[in-house]
Amino acid sequence: MKPHDSITQRIENENARFAIKGVLTLEAGRGALPTVAIRNEHASATIYLHGAHVAHFQPKSKGPVLWMSDWSWFEAGKPVRGGVPLCWPWFGPHAADPKLPGHGFARLVEWKLAETAQIPDGRTRVRFALTPADVEASPVAALLKAFPHAFELAFTVTVGASLEMELAVRNTGTAAFSFEEALHSYFAVGDVRDVRVRGLGGVKYLDRMQGLKECTQEADEVVFEGETDRVYLNAQSTCEIVDPKLERCIAVAKERSNATVVWNPHKAKAKAMPDFGDKEWPGMVCIETANVGASAVTLKPGETHAMKAILALK
Ligand code: BG6
Repeated sequence: MKPHDSITQRIENENARFAIKGVLTLEAGRGALPTVAIRNEHASATIYLHGAHVAHFQPKSKGPVLWMSDWSWFEAGKPVRGGVPLCWPWFGPHAADPKLPGHGFARLVEWKLAETAQIPDGRTRVRFALTPADVEASPVAALLKAFPHAFELAFTVTVGASLEMELAVRNTGTAAFSFEEALHSYFAVGDVRDVRVRGLGGVKYLDRMQGLKECTQEADEVVFEGETDRVYLNAQSTCEIVDPKLERCIAVAKERSNATVVWNPHKAKAKAMPDFGDKEWPGMVCIETANVGASAVTLKPGETHAMKAILALK
């Protein structure tokens, strides 16, 4: 898509190349941003080209799995609040320059749609791509100075009864580079105060609420009694979000991810964020599939690293 084409023209062109009859179309989403809308025999999903951002996933006859704020921006250069922001190439505040936007630039720029395919088992696969040229053409081009490396990102989303997301990073340059990454999934819950997260018992974590102090998850289940912001280390296990109010359990499985971030802003922080409704915080929890801090990834020239998250209702 060329950014100067009108939205209608751009969507028409993309549909000519990528639409799959009865299953996948390009549409104008919120903020007139182009989205990929999928409805197959297993589920429905919406993915914005902006940030390659999965904004909606709903298995057939079930409720939405992902949470989206009614206050989110849907604007070029700004992050979306909800769904699955892609954090890359840094996570949280930039280590050397805290004035840079948190969580890197991948969620702030429009990705290219590279491929769509219908799999014989009824699932639908979509691949998005991002290179430095795409960032160069965006309103946040200046952020490339903070990551002056040659890279190719491929983000593959497979929509079935479960939602599979794979972020593959390739070093296309001549020098090694390191990066952090997260599939920052926001899950819809009945009331976070009743929710329990299983799968992290005995695991060490860095607690952002205590200046990144190292703690141990003594109880088998994580509960949410106030603002919670933790990076669980060496955490490769599947997490389960047990939700008594919605009477469901969401499983978050992963591959090649060594950190799990658990976040809920609670009352005061939600109030302080302009793109987050004051009363929305009980309805969400983030369980993020990540490689951050000590598990940052280093790639030599020609190498690829692919991290995967698989989200499913149990
Ligand atoms: C989480 C971080 O991953 O993302 C939190 O651990 C942060 O510290 C949260 O507040 C939201 O970040 P942002 O940049 O989307 O407001």
